[in-house]
This record gives sequence, structure tokens and C-alpha cells, in this order.
Amino acid sequence: MKRIGLLTSGGDAPGMNAAIRAVVRTAIYYGIEVFGIERGYAGLIEDAIMPMEMRSVSDIVQRGGTKLRTARCLEMLTVDGQKQAVATLHKHGIEGLVVIGGDGSFRGAKCLAEDYGIPTIGIPGTIDNDLEYTDYTLGFDTAVNTCLDIINKLRDTMTSHERISVVEVMGRHCGDIALYAGITSGAEIIVVPEIAYNIEDIVTRINRSRANGKRSNIIVIAEGVMSAEAFAKQLQEVTTYSVRATTIGHIQRGGSPSMADRMLAAQFGNKAVHLLKDGIGNRVVGIRNNSIIDMDIIEAVSMKKKFNYELYETLQMISM
Ligand code: F6P
Repeated sequence: MKRIGLLTSGGDAPGMNAAIRAVVRTAIYYGIEVFGIERGYAGLIEDAIMPMEMRSVSDIVQRGGTKLRTARCLEMLTVDGQKQAVATLHKHGIEGLVVIGGDGSFRGAKCLAEDYGIPTIGIPGTIDNDLEYTDYTLGFDTAVNTCLDIINKLRDTMTSHERISVVEVMGRHCGDIALYAGITSGAEIIVVPEIAYNIEDIVTRINRSRANGKRSNIIVIAEGVMSAEAFAKQLQEVTTYSVRATTIGHIQRGGSPSMADRMLAAQFGNKAVHLLKDGIGNRVVGIRNNSIIDMDIIEAVSMKKKFNYELYETLQMISM
């Protein structure tokens, strides 16, 4: 393979830049040319493409966001859009493609691989950690750390005023950001889409913690359940403690990637190019049990994300 394309798609995630760098540098090491595609599949359809050199990825390993920019592209769901995307690849002599993105982006990659025979490799880049085939997605660790920083600050003021904080985190339909941020921040309660909640049980847990000497409570709620505002309103009707709502929002999508995300980016990017170099396409890369793996893209996108009930139980036991 002499020339490959690279794009980032869907919501950005910290570590995408580090992955871009790893793909470009590994490809150059093997004498493969890389073309960067701007704004995800939209750039592919509109032919917004530029060659990438060794120095075009300097000084980005530590930066959040994505140098290639990103978009959610509805046109890629249409046959016309897909044909245009394939025409752009052919026009530039691009023989393989690396797609960095989440679930939706992988569906586009699967379509290019399966329906149009373009060797494509997916790198999981999303803060949501909602892909079953990989233990972690790129950006998840940094996003959770950002949430922790904010929850630590909330704890200070909640304890001073003896209040309850309801903190909303992202994750779309997945409760992983809430679960990991909850367990590592010492939150007493998490509310996630995977588990039905009962407001009376929550009040009982809060009252028990106060009887045990707690001066504040943190409830982390995943956006897939409802907004922090709505939940706080519900809770305020059944408790005498003062409740405040905070939505972390897009702050958790930005910022310098953590060591863990930079390491994943280096390994995922390197692996993706290795696969294409060896003539292997239609795969996604990931990490399982601390090993970098690859698997069939069709199989990967058809897997249903499982919730980690064991971690949830741990939180219930240790956050009192
Ligand atoms: O998929 C990443 C994510 O941040 C989700 O957690 C969230 O639901 C969504 O993107 C927000 O999308 P947008 O930035 O388009 O509002």
C-alpha cells in the first residue's frame, strides 16, 4: 500500500491528535504517503484533502480536539454521499483509510469496507466508552479525569453548605463516564441509563450517610437518564437537604490528553498502519486485558455494550 487517507469523525475526543500523529509518523516510517481529510466524512465527500508530512503533526501530541477537525455527516448515510466519498479516494489514489471516531463513524467505515471494498481500519475515538469490543476508547480517561477535577471542587462547596450536588456527565446512552467518575470521586450515588433508579432508595442512602456523619452528597447522573436540573428538582421535592445541579457539558470533551490516552493513541495509530501495510483492512483496533487487539469491523459494530455491574456494586459498598 503506497497511499492512505486519515480522518476524524463524530464528537472529538482528547487523544485524537496524538493518534493522528502516530498514524502519520508510522506511515512515513514505512514509506507510505498519508492524506489528511478535513471534517470527517464531510471532507471526504467534498474533496477537502491535504498531504501530511512529518512536521505537519509536530506539537499536537499534547493538544485536545482534532487538527483535522470533525463533523457528524448525515450525507454519508446516503448512497450518493458514499459514492462521492469513494470517488474522492479513487481520484487521489488512496488505497486504504484510517477512521478515528465512535460508533457512528465506524458504521461509515464498515460501509466503505463492506460495500465498496476500501480497506478501512477504525480507531475508537470517543469519550463515551460505549464500544463493547474494546475495554477503553480514546478520550475516555481524560474526560473522566476532567469530571473528577470538577467533582472535587463541587465537594468543597457542598460540604461547606451541607448540600447535595447532582452532577451531569456525558456518555450518550452509556453510563461508563458516570460509573468511573462516580467510583473514583467518592460519589455516594450514580444514576445511569442501564439501571432503573428509585428516588426513595436514593433518599434512604442519603439519610443513612448523613446519620453516619457525612456533610455532603454527590450524585453523578449520566445524560442518558435525564438532565441534572430535572433530577435535582425531583430530589428536592423529597428531601430537606438543599440540592444543587451542575452540568459539566463540553468541558469534558476538551483539554490535554492524559498519559493513558496518549499511550492508547500511540499504540492504536501504530497498529492501524501496520494492518494496512500488511494488506489487512476491514478491522478495528482496541485494547483488551492490556493488550492491543484488532477485530472484524462488522463484528465489532454489531456487539452490544455491556454495563459493568461489578463496579456498580463496588461503588454501592464503598461510597457510604
Ligand atoms: O459522543 C460524544 C458526545 O460528547 C456524547 O457524550 C454527547 O451526547 C454528544 O457527543 C454531544 O454531541 P454534540 O457535541 O454534537 O452536542
